[in-house]
Amino acid sequence: MIDTHCHILPGLDDGPRDMATAVEMARVAAADGLRAIVATPHWTAAPGAPDWETLLGHTAALQAAIQRTGLDLKLYAGAEIALTASLLDAATDPLPCLAGTQYLLVEVPAYCDWQVARRVIFELQLRGYRVVLAHPERILALMEVRERARELTAGGVALQVTTAGLLGRLSRDVARLARWLVAEGLANLLATDAHNPTGDAPKFSPARKLVTRLAGPQAFERLTCTAPAEILATVP
Ligand SMILES: [Fe+2]
Repeated sequence: MIDTHCHILPGLDDGPRDMATAVEMARVAAADGLRAIVATPHWTAAPGAPDWETLLGHTAALQAAIQRTGLDLKLYAGAEIALTASLLDAATDPLPCLAGTQYLLVEVPAYCDWQVARRVIFELQLRGYRVVLAHPERILALMEVRERARELTAGGVALQVTTAGLLGRLSRDVARLARWLVAEGLANLLATDAHNPTGDAPKFSPARKLVTRLAGPQAFERLTCTAPAEILATVP
């Protein structure tokens, strides 16, 4: 299994506070059967945002620490890009994508002007990015009009549902939309969006039964293995 959204790099965002906690997250992930994680710290287009070289450096440092413990877990660099009004103006340089591919993990605020968000996503696509939308189940505009999710996937946006949303750890409305996205076959990826080794942990197995019940026996494998592997297959 491969996680394409995980806050595992220490000291960059609200993820683990130190290297030891980050390595503990890696241990939990490997024990759950994960073999690769794309490290995706929060990233906002603003002065001081870490550039790609910095993200690669942090990822390599954690990978080395993981290797010293003998764990078999591959890390890739990435980021979770906040969709803001200024993102397009600021984005003159290439934005940090998942594992250096063209796949851009974008986070839309739960309360957003949907027309603005849709326009920014479309513009990112025009610039050559393949947009992966993080936790669509949290977006109010999609709760209000579910067909907007179908429009997104028809327009080439990959919907990345999280285990926390699916399992009902956030709210009943979020769980309802997450489960509908999986049941309708609109979810393209499952991710943990983990921030720490406990509670909000990098584990997929708690969602296995639910995904299977919602979308059949092949769905869990597709969402956690096949689809993320297709993204990593495009690593340059
Ligand atoms: Fe996240």
